[in-house]
Amino acid sequence: MKNHITIKNKISPFNKTIEVDSDKSISIRCVLLASQAIGKSRIYNLLDSEDVLNTLKSINSLGIRSIKKKNYHEIFGYGLTGFNYKKTIKINAGNSGTLARLILGLLINSNNKIRIVGDRSLSMRDFSRITEPLKEFGANFKSNNNKLPVEIFGSEYLRPINYLEKIGSAQCKSAVMLAALKTPGVTRIKAKKSRDHTELLLKSLNIPIKISKTSDYDLIEIKGQNSYTGFNYHVPGDISSSSFFLVLTILGENSSLTIRKVNINKTRIGILNILKKMNANINIKNKKKYKGELIGDIICKSRNNLKAIRCPKKFNTYAIDEFLIIFLVAAKAKGVSTFRDLGELNKKESPRLDIGIKFLKMIGIKVVRNKDDLKIYGNPNIDLKGKFYMKNFRKDHRVFMMSCIAALTIGGDWKIYDSNSVNTSFPNFLKKIRNLGAKIS
Ligand code: S3P
Repeated sequence: MKNHITIKNKISPFNKTIEVDSDKSISIRCVLLASQAIGKSRIYNLLDSEDVLNTLKSINSLGIRSIKKKNYHEIFGYGLTGFNYKKTIKINAGNSGTLARLILGLLINSNNKIRIVGDRSLSMRDFSRITEPLKEFGANFKSNNNKLPVEIFGSEYLRPINYLEKIGSAQCKSAVMLAALKTPGVTRIKAKKSRDHTELLLKSLNIPIKISKTSDYDLIEIKGQNSYTGFNYHVPGDISSSSFFLVLTILGENSSLTIRKVNINKTRIGILNILKKMNANINIKNKKKYKGELIGDIICKSRNNLKAIRCPKKFNTYAIDEFLIIFLVAAKAKGVSTFRDLGELNKKESPRLDIGIKFLKMIGIKVVRNKDDLKIYGNPNIDLKGKFYMKNFRKDHRVFMMSCIAALTIGGDWKIYDSNSVNTSFPNFLKKIRNLGAKIS
């Protein structure tokens, strides 16, 4: 089946209101936490993407039933010790680092060997960052040189740990938090700041959790082995998916866009802060709180006097999935943008720092790299002519979506491969972009 698209024209001006697909991080967490609740949970507006489908399949293979209804999913949990499965099972996490890492936290008390596998991209990623702290609880692991397949042998005799999370990885922090739910006593985590959806969900479920904050770290204490009952949750729109539409509008001509009901949690809006610093026209309306999460409508307009940014390091984890699209804005901004300490980008679904640099060079932008720091020499007059082929060797959804936005805003005749990759996080991406007037074949 055809798995590439072509774009030959920039997008014409538009003025629309849209919603994007639901938040992936929150969807995965809701399913995993519902699998540990006692009784029925209802998750409304769950993201209908491959990563989330793999999460549902994983809990199904662990004996947890789920039913898809018209606008919600029902999940029937049996509490913190309620997994029930055949002797040796295999869980396929597909492309999802979040699923593979978080579910290991929930398998800390498994009494059989469970094998985690994934696709080619996930199989190239490091798992020691998660098996090391989980070993401290009492679990044992086998792996392929710290890569998948990883086998976990849980333990009945778990002990709480003190864990220092230094990377700013929400996946590591969350996996340890999930393991703490199953462990007697108090687990203490000192974590470099990162997205805090797991903390907010646990709070909303009245699980004993204490959080105190310093400027760079969060201190989290969780008292384990407290059961909770099924819950309802409405998943908001994903800011990471929104970011492609924000940049499409900002780099487009005479356009404006409202994206409704997006999660604008402080730990996710690095992209908004970065774009605003670059002089983008962005406003938020209709803010409201929902179970600790902040939701709002984002309104943005095209801008042709974008300026370069000296990106503060403190924005890195809050914009961790958005750097490819941020690089594109830097390519069109006036002046030299600088970014520091972006090594983590190379540990994502594909080596995004390396790919971002190659991409910028391909479109004629000067880039200077010094280890994990980057200087991007913007060109506000960039207007591409000629043919461009964008291969995507690890089928990274965000590489595909960023390339489409580039083609629609800076011109050229593009063939962009691996369009199916959007099913990972944003299955409606192409449909929504066509609805704004983009000509894509
Ligand atoms: C995620 C955390 C981030 C992010 C990923 C989703 C999560 O990964 O890149 O797309 O849902 O916890 P790290 O924790 O590895 O930074």
